[in-house]
Amino acid sequence: MCGIIGYIGNEDAVPIIVEGLKKLEYRGYDSAGVAVLNDGRFDVIKKKGRLAALEVEIQNTAQNATPIHGHLGIGHTRWATHGEPSNENAHPHLGNQEKIAVVHNGIIENYHTLRARLQSKGIVFQSETDSEVIPQLAEYYYEAENNLFDTVIKVASRLEGSYALGFMCVDTPDTIIAIKKDNPLIIGVSEHGNFIASDIPAVLKHTNQVYYLNDNELAVLTKEGITFYDTDKERIHKEIETITWSMESAEKGGYEHFMLKEIMEQPMILKNTLAKTLSQPPVDITRFNRIIITACGSAYNAGVVARYVFEKLCRTPVEVELASEFRYKDAIIDEKSLVILVSQSGETADTIAAMREAKAAGASTLAIVNVVGSTIAKECDYCFFTAAGPEIAVATTKAFSAQLLVLYSLAIRFAAQLNKISPAEEKSLRAELEALPDKVNALFAHTEEIQKYAASCIGYKSIFFIGRNIDYAIALEGSLKLKEISYIHSEAYAGGELKHGTIALIEENTLVVAISTCKRLEAKIMSNVEQVASRGANILSIGARHATASAVIPLPETHELFTPSLSVVVLQLFSYYVAANKGLDIDKPRNLAKSVTVE
Ligand code: G6P
Repeated sequence: MCGIIGYIGNEDAVPIIVEGLKKLEYRGYDSAGVAVLNDGRFDVIKKKGRLAALEVEIQNTAQNATPIHGHLGIGHTRWATHGEPSNENAHPHLGNQEKIAVVHNGIIENYHTLRARLQSKGIVFQSETDSEVIPQLAEYYYEAENNLFDTVIKVASRLEGSYALGFMCVDTPDTIIAIKKDNPLIIGVSEHGNFIASDIPAVLKHTNQVYYLNDNELAVLTKEGITFYDTDKERIHKEIETITWSMESAEKGGYEHFMLKEIMEQPMILKNTLAKTLSQPPVDITRFNRIIITACGSAYNAGVVARYVFEKLCRTPVEVELASEFRYKDAIIDEKSLVILVSQSGETADTIAAMREAKAAGASTLAIVNVVGSTIAKECDYCFFTAAGPEIAVATTKAFSAQLLVLYSLAIRFAAQLNKISPAEEKSLRAELEALPDKVNALFAHTEEIQKYAASCIGYKSIFFIGRNIDYAIALEGSLKLKEISYIHSEAYAGGELKHGTIALIEENTLVVAISTCKRLEAKIMSNVEQVASRGANILSIGARHATASAVIPLPETHELFTPSLSVVVLQLFSYYVAANKGLDIDKPRNLAKSVTVE
């Protein structure tokens, strides 16, 4: 969702900002813009569509002998929430007097009230966005305050909702001010200047030295340095952090898409994540009588897989809830409940809200997060990091696999603590986990086969994924992956449910992907496959061989509970190649965002 970058320093801000925005494209956007402060006025260029369109516009101004440049500027990629994607609705937004420019990530929930109040004072709005109230309100307060710092604090005190904000003012051409609440913002420090940004990749070319801004903290950036304050205007000290991963690890490395690169990285990611599980914080599971896993999207699907694993190994009942539902359901939890939050970004608005609900009810919160320094990582009681590195493709692959692995490892650890498995069983389960990276590697031998089969699937209107037990759990992820990037309608069903309705949709030229790794349920899923095959469906079988299948991708042997780590790789490759054969924008699928930081 929306990406922010701001720069103040010795270099020309425009190319730095545009390049930074490109590194934030993965967040999802439908328009982009840049504003620089030069000679006491703002030069602003905003364009609907991809960054390439913005670049053309920037070049046009250069050809017309009015190039935009300056030593401080702010840029933004907008993912439309209030108002359609358009040049007018794109950020940065300016107030009527063109004194203050702002970029915003988040949602201002009371914007109707603020807008009406400002309009009653004669202020005319240029866009349909919630964000425009911010520069308009800022200019209104600035008249009395005459000082950007005090104005920003006053504006923030009137805003309800979530925001990461960057401000510039024509009267202070040596300063950018940033503030945030419930949306991420980092501050980068380089030799030639300083940055604000939504995420590290935007600044990594220039620096690996960053500060993570916390809620209700202000950063005042000049080209010489940065000072931090709280909203009572007290100076605060923050520790600078060094980013240890390189830009290279966030680049495509020869693959056509980030998604394929990230799929192929999985053996290494699994190894790194396993190594990291050795330094997980201690959690005493015996203190709890309930486990609730809550998350969104694929992270939720990881939770559905984990429920089978925890219940089987720990013999403890586990509930899995969508975070968007959990947060409003007045969950029955207390200090004896362990709420596990799963999130790649650590910034998903609903998952953050679910975490805060859980804490308020006295439960303990354990998060499985990929992004160090994210809100969930900072606020939860116990944090377990996945070692997936930066994930750029919107549709998650490697972070999902890393989440599964951390959940497996946690389940084994809890089962041992609860004396539900013997030390020998624990050892053998851990050995199975350690063997997974090589088994995923071995699966890549089927890549070409999957690619060819996927090429023949682009004409399907609907694709169904079926499985039983843990295979059903991973079918959910297979179906989500396919619809996210190929735009083909798909659904996942528990094999046993087919006869209760879905079988009515099966006709000639329907594809059914049958996942069948549970030996003890093989005959059951086999009979489901026969039922759909006899109604004209084509079958892709993952795992066991079915006589009626038009293609079979076998999987290496592993413990039944860990098979999702293998089947998901086939499902990811299948979705990827269907979308690639359709020529779609795989890394940035339409309407989707990598990190859903608004409700
Ligand atoms: C978005 C992404 C998904 C992700 C979900 C949850 O929908 O496109 O890939 O699974 O958000 O994100 P999180 O960062 O909390 O894992």
